[in-house]
Amino acid sequence: MTVNKVIKVGLIGLGGMADAHRRMISELDQLQLSALCDVNDELLNKVGEEEGIGEEKRFNKMEALIQYPTVDAVISIVPNDLHAKVLELCIRHQKPIMAEKPFTLNFKEAEFLAELYEKTPIPCMVGFSYRYIPAFRYAKKLLEENKIGTLRHLEVRYLQSFGSPIFDVPYLWRFNKAITGTGALGDLGAHMIDSARFLVGEFKSVSALMRTFVPERRNPASCNMHKVKVDDYVSFHAVLEHDVVGAFLTTRNAIGSGNQHEVTLYGDIGTIHVNCEKPDEVLLSLVDGNDLQTTKETMEIPPGYRRQQLEDFIAIVTGQGHKEIPDFHDGYQNQKVLERIIESAEKGQSVNIDE
Ligand SMILES: NC(=O)c1ccc[n+]([C@@H]2O[C@H](COP(=O)([O-])OP(=O)(O)OC[C@H]3O[C@@H](n4cnc5c(N)ncnc54)[C@H](O)[C@@H]3O)[C@@H](O)[C@H]2O)c1
Repeated sequence: MTVNKVIKVGLIGLGGMADAHRRMISELDQLQLSALCDVNDELLNKVGEEEGIGEEKRFNKMEALIQYPTVDAVISIVPNDLHAKVLELCIRHQKPIMAEKPFTLNFKEAEFLAELYEKTPIPCMVGFSYRYIPAFRYAKKLLEENKIGTLRHLEVRYLQSFGSPIFDVPYLWRFNKAITGTGALGDLGAHMIDSARFLVGEFKSVSALMRTFVPERRNPASCNMHKVKVDDYVSFHAVLEHDVVGAFLTTRNAIGSGNQHEVTLYGDIGTIHVNCEKPDEVLLSLVDGNDLQTTKETMEIPPGYRRQQLEDFIAIVTGQGHKEIPDFHDGYQNQKVLERIIESAEKGQSVNIDE
């Protein structure tokens, strides 16, 4: 596709996260929302009216949207059990896609897709949105400049509170194993893994612990209680490239944490701390080699580190991709690490990523 052409986007899945994507699309002149798909007719028509999209371009079936001739590219924001299906259809119909995370429901699906993708690749971006927090991008630059010396270890947390028993959250799809795959792990842990891969490099091994704190939740339709078979809490240790070691923790049962994803990177002469709740701040602690005094500084992020996620979707669709864009390979690798974390927790032992 030519570099300056307006890209007509079809949006599949119009629920909570679609609002963020609609806003991002509206901010970019080169993207034009032109078709919609959802199984919920009321929502489909409401969004269709709001966006001024004609009834002929409102679909219930994702394949109809993906095949539609004037849809140049797809953004998919459906529940996790449908991610592999959307990706497969986009590969088969050769439509560029920006797919939400987690990449797939499990690693078997990721392997199936990888076989298809290798034969007929498409521009494909995965929604690892924390790469677009300016602080995270600047932290990467500081690491590349060796600002904190040799990186030894990192601590990564992603905490939310909405699953805590006091809130009595019903049995939504996010607690249904058949639809979600995993709990906090795929929902939040996938982001932690991506942040670590983005900042540090590949995972080599993991050693994990998983727990479900709220074993049953009320089904909003029937009012009966449903068993919850996915995790509320996951912690794991990992060895990454260059023998960097990491401690990771995610849970949706952390009262006081709204959406708290933070990374602390420890080097031989300094520490970098970033938190998505303060997207424009990098905290840097540095030891002076002469007097061994430690200084702490909140760094200003220079221009050039603010990039909207969908600007990179435009880049990948128009053949201007670059290595910082979370792509098909990142989705595949991420899913492999998620799978090994589950394996490790089940076996109660450390597991290598590439067995
Ligand atoms: N990158 C991020 O930070 C981030 C944040 C939130 C959600 N997400 C991801 O986005 C995805 C959706 O999350 P959400 O919170 O928007 O969920 P949601 O339940 O609010 O919305 C999902 C929508 O998909 C629709 N849908 C279901 N089956 C469909 C089908 N067969 N065809 C078309 N539409 C269908 C539903 O009717 C609903 O409107 C999840 O995979 C989630 O992990 C990513």
